[in-house]
Amino acid sequence: MKEPPCVVSSVRTESRGAQPARVDAPMVNRDAAHAAPLVIGIGGTTRPGSSTEQALRLSLRAAKAEGAETVLLAGHALRLPMYSPETAERSPEAMRLIDLLRRCDGLIIASPSYHGSVSGLVKNALDYAEDLSADERVYFDGCPIGLIAVAAGWQGAGQTLAAMRSIAHSLRGWPTPLGAMLNSTMQRFDEAGDCLDPSAKIQLEDVGRQVVQFLRMQRAAQIPLQGRCA
Ligand SMILES: Cc1cc2nc3c(=O)[nH]c(=O)nc-3n(C[C@H](O)[C@H](O)[C@H](O)COP(=O)(O)O)c2cc1C
Repeated sequence: MKEPPCVVSSVRTESRGAQPARVDAPMVNRDAAHAAPLVIGIGGTTRPGSSTEQALRLSLRAAKAEGAETVLLAGHALRLPMYSPETAERSPEAMRLIDLLRRCDGLIIASPSYHGSVSGLVKNALDYAEDLSADERVYFDGCPIGLIAVAAGWQGAGQTLAAMRSIAHSLRGWPTPLGAMLNSTMQRFDEAGDCLDPSAKIQLEDVGRQVVQFLRMQRAAQIPLQGRCA
């Protein structure tokens, strides 16, 4: 992907407030003007091979093909203690999540529909974004967020996608124009992780692509990704 000059820098060296310690994971050089944008995929269920995780993987793969660096946080990586706002103590896994949320340029979130809304596992992971509330870039201000809802029926998928859009707005993100809904009773995946329903596959890929396309437009317009509303 040919990148125009940009003013994007996702490295934050300090943050305000009583934030938990940061993990300096060995990732890309985020200072480089032409660094690939970092897109984090969060979601799935604790069930190995869950359709939600497969949907997320597919979407993330499309974001990568579009030029992003991608990191997947799914399943057991999301088995975190319940988010506690009253303390700055965080488990190592939670610190890694917070660090990635802080560094990311864009997100793709995939949740199963549990009783008509986002699952507790995914919501608890997103609750950790509260630790970004006093950052220079507040929450995901200016970040594109792709959303995927997976359910055993269309009603649950629609309700869950609407709930996810609401969460993305609350976190100051920009939900992509297309949100993907998957009905896991009809739309399945093969062993290679490809969705057997061509139209569902295209939707999932488009969500990943739109996240990166938004970032490309942002860079072309030279809009700083952080520090606008702190
Ligand atoms: C606790 C629980 C609640 C659920 N609630 C709904 C629901 O309200 N509507 C729906 O369509 N499916 C519901 N489902 C089904 C899941 O959304 C569905 O299986 C989805 O495909 C997630 O499966 P996965 O584990 O393969 O990702 C529920 C499943 C569980 C375990």
